[in-house]
Amino acid sequence: MISWDVKHSHAEIGFAIASKYWSKGIITEATREVIRYGFEKMGLHRIEGRCNYNNAGSARAMQKLGMKLEGVLRGQLKIKGVFTDQKMYSILKSDYDDHLRDQRI
Ligand SMILES: CC(C)(COP(=O)(O)OP(=O)(O)OC[C@H]1O[C@@H](n2cnc3c(N)ncnc32)[C@H](O)[C@@H]1OP(=O)(O)O)[C@@H](O)C(=O)NCCC(=O)NCCS
Repeated sequence: MISWDVKHSHAEIGFAIASKYWSKGIITEATREVIRYGFEKMGLHRIEGRCNYNNAGSARAMQKLGMKLEGVLRGQLKIKGVFTDQKMYSILKSDYDDHLRDQRI
């Protein structure tokens, strides 16, 4: 978890893994358990995640986790001096209950 807003019961996730391990399903598998912990142990209502607009791998991983694209945050992060657009994804507890809760490693 990158951040946790206790008052509003939401948190943000982020992930990164060395390039030699990309596209093996590792991040999806690991993050599924982080999401499970967030909803079942932390009592979250919402978990969100952002990725660079052109980061297809990160976007795909969030889609596989049942996260939904909410929109594009324009110029939201300054990376190496350049303001970049970010896609915002989220999953609610109700989405988790419907689609993810019973998926196990
Ligand atoms: C983004 C990142 C965390 C994904 O980790 P990962 O372990 O490779 O993710 P997974 O294998 O679980 O899932 C990635 C999915 O995206 C797909 N994918 C990867 N690169 C892609 C690309 N360029 N275009 C389209 N799909 C892509 C993979 O095939 C996989 O989908 P599939 O299982 O349907 O085939 C990893 O690439 C990374 O660390 N990148 C550098 C740091 C970064 O970008 N972090 C995210 C910041 S928001």
